[in-house]
Amino acid sequence: MRNIVAGNWKSNKLMVEARELMVAVSKGVSIDGLTDVILAPPAPFLSALVLEAPENKSISWAGQQCSGYEMGAYTGEFTASMLHSIGVRSVLIGHSERRDKFGESEEMVAMKVRSALDSGLTAILCCGENLGERESGGHFTRVMEQLTHALHGVSETEMADVVLAYEPIWAIGTGRTASADQAQEMHHAIREFIKENWGEMIAGNTRILYGGSCKPSNAGEIFAQPDVNGGLIGGAALSAADFLAIVDASDQSLREIQ
Ligand code: 13P
Repeated sequence: MRNIVAGNWKSNKLMVEARELMVAVSKGVSIDGLTDVILAPPAPFLSALVLEAPENKSISWAGQQCSGYEMGAYTGEFTASMLHSIGVRSVLIGHSERRDKFGESEEMVAMKVRSALDSGLTAILCCGENLGERESGGHFTRVMEQLTHALHGVSETEMADVVLAYEPIWAIGTGRTASADQAQEMHHAIREFIKENWGEMIAGNTRILYGGSCKPSNAGEIFAQPDVNGGLIGGAALSAADFLAIVDASDQSLREIQ
């Protein structure tokens, strides 16, 4: 199975800088690598970048979020189908920054997953506990709760279009990474959850990404874990050199098991 390394640019860059970053990443990603690279720039740049991007079959584009509603009178929203219509192939859903800073409830996250799948997008569903939940030992319960809500009603066939991203909130943008063991332990639990609900084959085929202060210096160790299938990268995705080094670390981790 191919890994995924996805760059979440969050709310960073102006158009000229976004274009420069896209060009540098496109040039650096090998077309015969073992990793699918996904770029999630800010929404205002998506359409132009998708059109301008040099042909590279290893790279595809993602939205950082989408509406849970279909088209209609929802000022400021954009639908999953709109993203699909401009050539975007996936969308991040339920990022902790959306949940915590913009009040996205479990119900809204589930609506967005439904919308993404109905529109033909891959849903990159984010989950993860906060520091209090980790320290009190409630982290597994919290993550499984999030997945239970968000994936309610998702069929076996649809699970082929679901990617999960475990992003412990205490590791996002803090420089504090989950240890490789902590990541593996949670990823394994997530895979078991998928197995219980959709069976062993789907569990084995679902890619589970790690996110949270992932950088060139720690990516190799994290990606070497058996249940980690790549990463969702924030800060380090804003530098082409760092991001490409993380893509290389992913390729390397797969070569070692081949
Ligand atoms: P950082 O890599 O900056 O910690 O962000 C991770 C993240 O939130 C990716 O979605």
